[in-house]
Amino acid sequence: LASREFLAGLPKAELHMHLDGALSPAMMFSLAQRNQVKLPYTSVEEIEAAYQFKNLQSFLDLLYQGASVLKHEQDFYDLARDYFAKCKADNILHTELSFDPQTHTDRGIPFDTVISGILRAMDDAKTEWGISSKLVMDFLRHLSAESAMKTLEESLPWKDKIIAVGLDSSELGHPPSKFTEVFARARAEGYRVVAHAGEEGPPAYIWEAIDLLKVERIDHGVRADEDPQLLDYLQKTQIPLTVCPLSNVRLCVFDKMAEHNLFSLMDAGLRVMINSDDPTYFGGYLNDNYFAIADAFPLTRKQALLLAHNSFTSSFIDDVEKQEFI
Ligand code: HPA
Ligand code: ZN
Repeated sequence: LASREFLAGLPKAELHMHLDGALSPAMMFSLAQRNQVKLPYTSVEEIEAAYQFKNLQSFLDLLYQGASVLKHEQDFYDLARDYFAKCKADNILHTELSFDPQTHTDRGIPFDTVISGILRAMDDAKTEWGISSKLVMDFLRHLSAESAMKTLEESLPWKDKIIAVGLDSSELGHPPSKFTEVFARARAEGYRVVAHAGEEGPPAYIWEAIDLLKVERIDHGVRADEDPQLLDYLQKTQIPLTVCPLSNVRLCVFDKMAEHNLFSLMDAGLRVMINSDDPTYFGGYLNDNYFAIADAFPLTRKQALLLAHNSFTSSFIDDVEKQEFI
């Protein structure tokens, strides 16, 4: 079996991590003071105590409220810098982090402010710590397709710095088909494409993400196991699923870790790996997710190696770069 030491020491990539979801309660509290933003909390402990979620929406409400403390380029830098320090600690050699520009542009923060701070932190993480990273731009699916298209157009001057577009936020009632044209345009502009699907939403949303958006990777996708044909398709095509164990338990997708379907997906031959999603909201960074799985299941070293291997083979690093890692 894989010990904690073994898991912590494994070289890993992370492919599903939302930058706003890496805002720690301590940084939220200090940025609120620095930027004079009012929060409905009087201490860091109160923030932590508020993190009890009953579903995805109850989490998103607090995620977007927390993000309101981010205003300046330096704030986005500090946030990303904090996450990269955790990457270093968790032996993450490569990360494909996502950001949600609309969370910020909708409250008047310029797109350029957001992305400049993030890109500066990515450069520093590479120079100082040798951490490789790519940036994914997610659209908020509870907003309109027009808003997503406008965001896509705003991103074009930066398109060489953004590897892919994705889709996140409230899944139920906002199927991938709502964004068919936006994703077609994004692909035409040279972006790779991913989407959250099958977290709370049905297998039909995973099919739509594949057939209509033409995604190369599914974020979450754990509800694929309700559709045998879909499982078969995912096995044959090896379209990766970026699974997030602590997130799924904290958002009640599974009642407890022992009920998680990570192993049944692996046993069905799907390409899956472990990710942290929103580490400061769900109680742990990447290694904590590996530990939580190893605590609930007999995780062998071979299985852990496969998960870590899949994290690299599912990434958007090109074949030449990949040889550095695999
Ligand atoms: N699902 C949907 N939207 C999100 C998530 C998630 O897991 N995390 C941050 N935004
Ligand atoms: Zn996510």
